[in-house]
Order: sequence, then C-alpha cells, then structure tokens
Amino acid sequence: MEEKVVKTANNLDKQQQEWRKMSDKKGPQPIALPDIQASRTRRLITKDEELNRVLGGGIVPGSIVLFGGQPGIGKSTLLLQLALGAKAKVLYVSGEESENQIKMRADRLGGNMDNCFILTETNIHKILKHTLELQPQLLITDSIQTLSSPNLDSMPGSITQVRECAAELQRFAKETNIPVFLIGHITKEGSIAGPKLLEHIVDVVLLFEGDRHYTYRMLRTQKNRFGSTDEMGIYEMQADGLREVSNPSELLLSQKDEDLSGSAISATMEGMRPMLIEVQALISPAVYGNPQRSATGFDLRRLNMLLAVLEKRAGFPLGQQDVFLNIAGGIRVDDPAIDLSIMAAIMSSHEDVAIPTDVCFAGEVGLSGEIRSVSRIDQRIQEADRLGFKEIFISKYNTKGLDTSRFGIKVYTIGKLQELYTELFA
Ligand code: TYD
Ligand code: MG
Repeated sequence: MEEKVVKTANNLDKQQQEWRKMSDKKGPQPIALPDIQASRTRRLITKDEELNRVLGGGIVPGSIVLFGGQPGIGKSTLLLQLALGAKAKVLYVSGEESENQIKMRADRLGGNMDNCFILTETNIHKILKHTLELQPQLLITDSIQTLSSPNLDSMPGSITQVRECAAELQRFAKETNIPVFLIGHITKEGSIAGPKLLEHIVDVVLLFEGDRHYTYRMLRTQKNRFGSTDEMGIYEMQADGLREVSNPSELLLSQKDEDLSGSAISATMEGMRPMLIEVQALISPAVYGNPQRSATGFDLRRLNMLLAVLEKRAGFPLGQQDVFLNIAGGIRVDDPAIDLSIMAAIMSSHEDVAIPTDVCFAGEVGLSGEIRSVSRIDQRIQEADRLGFKEIFISKYNTKGLDTSRFGIKVYTIGKLQELYTELFA
C-alpha cells in the first residue's frame, strides 16, 4: 500500500508561492565561480602505484570509493595490503572475517602492521564512533553488504540497508575529511542489490576483475570524479598477496618462444600506457551443425562483425568454420586497435601459416574492410620497438605527422584488409 496525499488546487497554489516569502540569509548562497577559494586538496599517496594511477593520483581526502568485484577475486587482499603499507593510521573494518583470520592473512602478506587497526563490527554507528575516536587517515569497510544501521529493521545486505549505510558513510566522509573505501560484492551480471545502486552516491567506482583461472587481476575505474576513467591497473595474485605489474607487456609476452599459426601480437593502449598482448585464434571446420563462435577477453558481437567483414571483404569462407578467439593472460581488452591483430590471427589459423614472432599490429577494422587509424600511434610503435619487435603493421591513415625514421622497427602501412593478407601470406 502506498500513501498518496491529495492536494486541492487551492492548497497547491498557496504552496507554490511559499518560497517568495522565505527569507534565507543562512545556508549556502550563490557565489561567482572566480570567488570560490579552492582549497588545494592534498591527495593521500599510497604505496601501491597502480592504485594511485587508477585513482587519478592518490586518494582524495573526504572521498568515498566503491571497490567492487566478484567474490574471491582479491578485494580484501588488495585493501588489507593497502592498509599494511600505509604510513599513516588506517582502520580496516571487517564484517566478514574474524580478527584472527585477518591477522593470519596480514602475516602472509607481510608489511608494516604498526599503523593498521582492525575492527570486527557491522553496526554502522559503532563503526563511525570508533573511527571518530581513532582518527585514521583512511577507513576501509569490508563489505558494504554486511553493514547495518540500527535505524532500520531490514536485513544487512538488503537494498535499504546498503543504501542507508552508504549514505551515512558518505556524510561522515564529507564531514570529517576521512576517505572511505567500501568493498562491495558483485555477481557476474552485476545484478545483485548493492553496488550497482550505490554508483551515484559514491565519488569513485573501482572494479576489480579478472579470470579466476588466471593469476592476473585488473583494476578499472567505472566512474571517477577526480580523474580519468581509462586508466587500468594490473596485478598478479601470488602466494604472498597481489603484486603490482608495472610493465605488463613483458609479462604477457613471455610465454611465447616458437612460431605457431593463429597467434598475433597487438600493440594496445590501456589508458595512457602501451601494452603488447597476444591474440590467439583457432579456426576449424564445424562438425556439429551450427558453427560455434567463442571469444575470451573480447566482445563476441565485435568478433562476429569482424568475421563478417573478413568473409565479405576479403573472401574468407568462414561460414562453416568454428572460430575460437582468446586474449592471452585472461585480460579483457576494449581498445579497437586490437582488431587488426585479430584479423591477422584468424587468417594465420585459416592458412595454417605462422606469423613471425617479431611482428605486431595496431589498427581498427571498419565495415568495408578498411584499416582505420588509432590513437597514440607513436607510443604504440615506441613500445613495440623497445620490446624488440622488428615489424609493425598500422593503418596508412595513421601516418600524419609520424616520423618513422626515428624507430628501429620497420613500419608497414596498409589501407585494406586484402593488403594485410598479401603482405603476410602471399
Ligand atoms: P580475497 O581477498 O579474500 O577475495 P574477496 O575479498 O574479493 O572475496 O581473496 C581470495 C583469493 O585470493 C583466495 O581464493 C586465495 C587468493 N589469495 C592468494 O592467492 N594469495 C594470497 O596471499 C591471498 C591473501 C589470497
Ligand atoms: Mg573479502
């Protein structure tokens, strides 16, 4: 049942005029933008370089950060590690694990424990009271789904509780200037009540993701009021915690030593950072009715589109073939520049001819089979050069202002998909 207050026309008229009589000398007044004194916020720089970069240069005081991810991906590990590495006081509140469990984990992770305070509590008021007394530089709550406010009757983890607790933490953060990290569990679909509905309350939404079967974890920003959202951090899960991967290319390429068909290297960008990764494709005749298409780490719809382009514009008969695509390392890539390497990998698997291991690619493929230019081509070429690649294929539309003579690597420019085929296999 929902209560609806019926307003008569007369009444409504009076209410609508009420603001005219209001005299508001207190409270916020309109102020010209140049008159506002920006207090330069000193960000909290953590020991974790990847996290600093993803946040846009450290933690902003008074900000509230939602740290989402699937259960078991390593959220508690990363944030406990953050607390252990801190120079200033950090309060880590856990409603999921006992003090003992946390202590064991901390022992495993190593690091400096002096500044790390643990509280096992789920009552939001008690948490805030302790925080106020302790005055830490950072408050971490693990997880938002376990917190509850005594003002409400509903169960912890319910929509109303999650929203109420997040709102209280947000007010607290703004008032005390203590930044707050909220851990939130998200299911694969991101559907569960909780983190999704908090996105508009919090300042920053970080997503921690990765394939459980691989050791790499990616930290992405979905929303950031204080920085760009295209930065990405990469970690590797090890026996003693998460290790920052500051040079992803070398790691993702290290397993490759012989020429195999169906594999191609792409020069991609993640935010401002160039990264070379390997794409693998397998084409084989479909034996059971409908051909299968499957992609790991890449958008399946985009793969279908690329296959259609390959069939129509380059005359590859793929209609009766199974196509499997895999991005090495369990990494998910959104950069369109990976298209060209996918095409090359598919062609290579189809022809069963290997692409030399010192060749890489960077280009987007359009619907008419044209190779389109991509952003930051200099940086991509430079990174490939640095890693010892001998040849790189890019779009011929990408050469404006590009001085290829300063690189040791040979730069091939192509305009159409057919040219890729002729250059590589004909
Ligand atoms: P955890 O941080 O508990 O995940 P979340 O809080 O996101 O649910 O991490 C879970 C996994 O991480 C666990 O399955 C084991 C693994 N792990 C390691 O491999 N090394 C370690 O040092 C730690 C602490 C965990
Ligand atoms: Mg956890």
